[in-house]
Amino acid sequence: MSTAPRNTALWHPFADMFEVRQSQFCVTRADGVWVHDQEGRRYLDGTAGLWYANVGHGRTEIVEAAAAQMRTLDAYFVFNDFTNPAAEALADRLAQLAPMPDAKIFLTTGGGEAIDTAAKLARQYWAQRGQPQRTHILSRGNAYHGTNGMGTSIGGIEVNQAGFGQLVPDTSRVAFDDADSLREAIERLGADRVAAFFAEPVMGAGGLHPPRPGYLEAVAKICAEHDVLFVADSVICGFGRVGTWFGVERWGLQPDMITFAKGVTSGYLPLGGVVTSARVAEPFWEHPGRVFRHGATYSGHPTVAAAALANLDILEREKLLQRADELERPLHETLVQFADHPAVGEVRGGTGLLGAVELAPEVLDADPGAVGRAQRAIREHGVIVRPLAKALAVSPPLIITESEIGMIGEAMRAGLDAVAAG
Ligand SMILES: Cc1ncc(COP(=O)(O)O)c(C=O)c1O
Repeated sequence: MSTAPRNTALWHPFADMFEVRQSQFCVTRADGVWVHDQEGRRYLDGTAGLWYANVGHGRTEIVEAAAAQMRTLDAYFVFNDFTNPAAEALADRLAQLAPMPDAKIFLTTGGGEAIDTAAKLARQYWAQRGQPQRTHILSRGNAYHGTNGMGTSIGGIEVNQAGFGQLVPDTSRVAFDDADSLREAIERLGADRVAAFFAEPVMGAGGLHPPRPGYLEAVAKICAEHDVLFVADSVICGFGRVGTWFGVERWGLQPDMITFAKGVTSGYLPLGGVVTSARVAEPFWEHPGRVFRHGATYSGHPTVAAAALANLDILEREKLLQRADELERPLHETLVQFADHPAVGEVRGGTGLLGAVELAPEVLDADPGAVGRAQRAIREHGVIVRPLAKALAVSPPLIITESEIGMIGEAMRAGLDAVAAG
């Protein structure tokens, strides 16, 4: 195992630092679908980093676009009337790609900030429309919407909310895969109190759950019937991960807002944002004096925007959205073969280049650390997968080949065998 110095000062997110300080996994280099550790071993990046490296690593085209932008205009803000050509070009391009007509684009530095933006904007929208009592935000049990204030408050993974005191009020969760539960919640609260409903098209960090057939269409309809804003959190699902630009097109949806991040730059530089429909923009764009008093220093950062534009060029030129479609089945078949494995309880996936293998309850009862153990064993066999609660998740770069998908399968088998052997 690759280890960095023991006395690290780096506090890792979501990490038990008592454990991690003894043994870190130090990645020093990456190219294509491969990452390398400091001892020169290479690993197949079965997760595209944290679901972001859609075009793969080491693309000099993105590096050069960012460097060229830095030489011209390194950084400049877009508050008030300031703008820059790269941010303008990116907003135009994303608005063109978005499934809603006349979309507007609010840029952030990541997914969590996009969630805060969308949630605040939903509440402000209703205030501007003369319904300031419409503040309640509904989301799904198991949902993950990042760790900023709003994202923590509307997240559905309870352990991520514990110990932080009072979170943002006027939020609640509905059953994650049951559209009726959304209808009941809206009717119980009163539609005139509900600002928005947030949902990931394919639920990611909450265990990798593709939507039940008809679920997303049903919740979109319930929102429309009750005039509740529907916000699709496509931070994972965008930019080809489920075969479309913003994920939601796969189900024919036109949400009121879409949050995005990750694949928009394939992770080369930090970027996120919100696509808003014309309806949500209208009170702010068509009337004077109504300011959305929100935004971060690096919103519209030109270097980040240049990297995003180069990334979108690659996704288009190499037809990687179609590629994700083509690889969806081979990846799913590779994982489904483990459904009968003694260490496995359930295999999920088949919607996009995403999948998860959940361990069997008896394996987890016998060893609550079995997921971590399996993940490390798989890494020892040269493949990086992601531990997600009870499951091992995969979401490789969209440039992966079928034979490399086969390598994920082989390493997964070795890891599962190791867990089954105890
Ligand atoms: C669906 C979803 N929303 C929001 C976020 C938060 O994004 P970030 O980590 O860039 O703040 C994530 C991160 O994984 C995510 O998966």
